Amino acid sequence: MHADIRAHLRGRAKETEIHYVKVVDSTNTLCKMWAEASYPEGTVVLAEEQTAGRGRLGRSFYSPAQSGLYCSILLRPRTKPEEALFLTTAAAVAASRAIQQVTGKEVQIKWVNDLYYHDRKVCGILTEAAMDWEKQSLRYAILGIGLNLQTPAKGFPSELSEIAGALYAPEEDVPESQKLNLVAEFLNEFFSLYEKLEERSFLEEYRQRSFLTGKRVILSCGNRLEEGIVEDIDAEARLLVRLTNGTVEAYSAGEVQLQKPYR
Ligand code: BTN
Repeated sequence: MHADIRAHLRGRAKETEIHYVKVVDSTNTLCKMWAEASYPEGTVVLAEEQTAGRGRLGRSFYSPAQSGLYCSILLRPRTKPEEALFLTTAAAVAASRAIQQVTGKEVQIKWVNDLYYHDRKVCGILTEAAMDWEKQSLRYAILGIGLNLQTPAKGFPSELSEIAGALYAPEEDVPESQKLNLVAEFLNEFFSLYEKLEERSFLEEYRQRSFLTGKRVILSCGNRLEEGIVEDIDAEARLLVRLTNGTVEAYSAGEVQLQKPYR
């Protein structure tokens, strides 16, 4: 499998070392162990199934076999720690491009780390960073991405049934070659953006693909709930929301819920 992916790699992505595991608790957890054991930047782990896939805010990421791609990349960025947020942003754009190139399907980005297709979440990204506090620099970052290719045979768990979706319809065939190409193109696109992360060249596309722009949302920031309409995403990748009192606030973190008919 790695050999097939490797054949499609270009540029900096060619320097990756891809490990394939059938089942793992979480590719991010495994990659973190490897980071602590001094594995180099560009170590990639790809799993067929995760038994304890993790999402943002301590949530789990449902990762059954034969329905998705679960992948983590070990990075050792030489950028300022504040730039770590842009790893997620760049990865969202890279994954969107890869999906479009390989499948012809156009996904949207739900700030800050989800991809949506036909109003359903088909992909989540989790970036975890470890700091060197004395040097005020990043020791490493693990970029994890999970893509739902097909609805699992038993369906999604009930708590996800109104949110989660898959890139391919049940009747669609997903050729193995497309899966491999998706991974390869994601790595190609991601590493080409990563090489010049500080230029933030991907931000315009991130804005263009925004799923939330123009939508009415409820934002939770800590224990505060705010309601408003999303106006845009700014140059710092913050969400600009016109609140019900008419002011526009910029959010750099938080959880967004869509008001009906969306979730
Ligand atoms: C989210 O939806 O909040 C982010 C989900 C990220 C899931 C991916 S799957 C590969 C990697 N390993 C994990 O445990 N999580 C990420």
